[in-house]
Amino acid sequence: MNGDRGLGRDVGRSVRSVRVLGAVRGLQGLRAALRRRRTDAWGLPARGAERARVPGPVGEAEPLPGGGIVRFARSELRVSVSVGGTVFWGWDGAEPLPSYALAGEPPEPDARAVLEPDTDGGWRVVSERVTVAVSRHGAVEVRTPGGVLLRRDLPPRWWEPVAGGPARWVQRSEVPADARFFGLGGRASGPRLRNGTYRLWNTDPKGGFSTGDDPLYITMPVQVVVSDAGTHLAFHDNSWDGRVTVAEGEEGAGSGHDRPGTSEVRMSGGPLRCWVVVGTPARVLHGWAALTGAPALPPAWALGPQHARWGFGSEREVRRVVAGYRERGLPLSAVHLDIDHYDEHRVFTVDRERFPDLPGLAAELREEGVRLVSIVDPGVKAEAGDAVYDSGVAAGAFVRDPRGQEVRGVVWPGECAYPDFTDAGAREWWGGLYEERLAQGFSGFWHDMNEPVSFAPFGDMTLPRSARHALEGRGGDHREAHNVYGLTMARAGYEGLRRLRPDERPFLFTRSGWAGMQRYGGTWSGDVSTGWPGLRASLSLVLGLGLCGVPYSGPDVGGFDGSPSPELFLRWFQLGAWLPLFRTHAAIDAGRREPWEFGPEVLEHARAALVERERMRPYFVTLAQLARLTGAPYVRPVWWGAPDDRALRDCEDAFLLGDALLVAPVLAPGADRRAVRLPRGRWYDTVTEQAYEGPGQVLLDAPMSRVPVLARAGAVVPVRGEEDGALELEVWAPAAGRTGGGLVVRDRGDGWDAAAIERYSTRLVDGRVVVERVTEGGTEEVRGLSVRVRGLA
Ligand code: GLC
Repeated sequence: MNGDRGLGRDVGRSVRSVRVLGAVRGLQGLRAALRRRRTDAWGLPARGAERARVPGPVGEAEPLPGGGIVRFARSELRVSVSVGGTVFWGWDGAEPLPSYALAGEPPEPDARAVLEPDTDGGWRVVSERVTVAVSRHGAVEVRTPGGVLLRRDLPPRWWEPVAGGPARWVQRSEVPADARFFGLGGRASGPRLRNGTYRLWNTDPKGGFSTGDDPLYITMPVQVVVSDAGTHLAFHDNSWDGRVTVAEGEEGAGSGHDRPGTSEVRMSGGPLRCWVVVGTPARVLHGWAALTGAPALPPAWALGPQHARWGFGSEREVRRVVAGYRERGLPLSAVHLDIDHYDEHRVFTVDRERFPDLPGLAAELREEGVRLVSIVDPGVKAEAGDAVYDSGVAAGAFVRDPRGQEVRGVVWPGECAYPDFTDAGAREWWGGLYEERLAQGFSGFWHDMNEPVSFAPFGDMTLPRSARHALEGRGGDHREAHNVYGLTMARAGYEGLRRLRPDERPFLFTRSGWAGMQRYGGTWSGDVSTGWPGLRASLSLVLGLGLCGVPYSGPDVGGFDGSPSPELFLRWFQLGAWLPLFRTHAAIDAGRREPWEFGPEVLEHARAALVERERMRPYFVTLAQLARLTGAPYVRPVWWGAPDDRALRDCEDAFLLGDALLVAPVLAPGADRRAVRLPRGRWYDTVTEQAYEGPGQVLLDAPMSRVPVLARAGAVVPVRGEEDGALELEVWAPAAGRTGGGLVVRDRGDGWDAAAIERYSTRLVDGRVVVERVTEGGTEEVRGLSVRVRGLA
């Protein structure tokens, strides 16, 4: 009772202080918005008259390793095919580097690729895996070795300001008529991108978003295109503000001719260069990870259930919630502290009145297996005497305007300065600040507000476009740096943590980011609105980001604002339990999100979801390792293994979790059954063990107690044994005449020990399931592991 009254007081106090702050910030925000407008009026003169340009007719070509340079009357095009079959092309002298997306040096050119004249007067590069044809006017076609067209990029058009300055450009591309588009970062309306225009400008949607809102926090010029002809990923490596318009094609349109699908990329500046990765979905994501970097491996605890809250308000409330989990026997892996644990919302500080002994609390929670995660916002309270601010000023770390004045914006602590994370020195300074967080006992980091946000009643809620950035010494402004702000902040945090705590893998996830962000960590939905559309958007984001190379993410379970109905909360919880980041979170003035706050029935079913998640932990560990090794996301669209199955391409309400499982969450109210589209092969309902044959659609029970999860016949799923928690292989009977198998990677702790992949095979012999360990020499008996066969009729 007492505790509850205390809680009411803490939360009430926090909510009130936020409201008071709200009014103050409103005024500051207005001033900052006016200042931003003035800064840009001075720093970014109007573009004035422009001259349009196209490449013009083709001329000579110069061979180089992997391809060569094709010259046109008014431009030139560099084409290079790498050893793995990845294609690069760049106009006007654009090279692969410098790039914020690439993990290091660009891939080795394929020395065997040859540049030769094409029949139509253009040129082509022929290699083992792909052919790139360049037409006389500068269209670039990517074809399979068999000659099937995957993508045609039409000649680009530039507009150059007569008075000088960055040229804007547009390029239209065609893809097969049956193709579907995915990707472009985290989009709420997908995962299949509907016809329309998508902006490339990382944006805080202001207080919550749903399926109709675009853009959001993470945008990327990454398109994944799936058609009968094959799958490919096209990446326009350019961080400027842009727009992509996609339109699906139509087969037999008009007079029986196909109308190709189209995409049109419009950029306000920056290089015109593109990477194209072709192959099966698995090969494409592997090639993408080879180019932009392997995903950071979260520690195993980050694959367990987590609870966040804006407005815990005190150590006492944190203890109360953790005790609530403990007393009800609910597993919990981490608790996340939001800005309310800061001193006046200042980053890298602690409110010592309400959180008098964080290291003590962290140690106490650690004893019971619960880690503490800290929010980290980039805005630093701009006030002399503030230790973080003073050290940032001394390090010359803050963004300045074209006149050399520090750029000020408004975030939670009031007026703030912004570190320039595109500056190596600023990154180093910032990375060092995590020492304070580690000393407070935090194990993981949650980067927020890094689009970056500056509150404003009108206009763009971010820094002036003319704000100067180091851009690794090249120098430039916010037009180019904006979209990589979150990415470079993640780099600063990640590298700082590696220096400060070299023996442990950093755990961080970030609201904003860009291509390549997976090198440093994952992400989450941001402020997804509470409501059934928000639930759907949650899945869309995770799927789309996975296809853009970011495998670790998940939503605010229950939604960020308001109060979900018990049914909505439960369905969200049941979805979250099958996603990589499984975390409840809510705003300071939102309703409760503890699973016991929605009545005994929800509690019982939420408990089942938590228990199942814990049982599946070895599978999640395996998927995390495989994501690191192969680039394949844990959560994959159902077409992943069968991109030629058109019905699967349009299926957006289910997903594959690794190779073994198909999860069909309930995304609508009042359902007790749902239709599930199966890829080919046999699938078992994991609860009833009933077998279903794909391809096709089946109707499955989806009572409040669970969402349908199916296992692929022949699959091997590593799970925690129910009795002793030891690793166990759950094996789903292969269909007669078929074989199966699976990979297992065991947890090697939170350090850097290399993981070993264990390979298992399954087959059916005389009605008995035989499971063997695959070794270099052949197969051997499974030793030291119990095997549980399921699905045998
Ligand atoms: C932003 C974040 C949210 C967080 C809040 C306060 O809205 O997206 O997760 O709770 O800021 O820090």
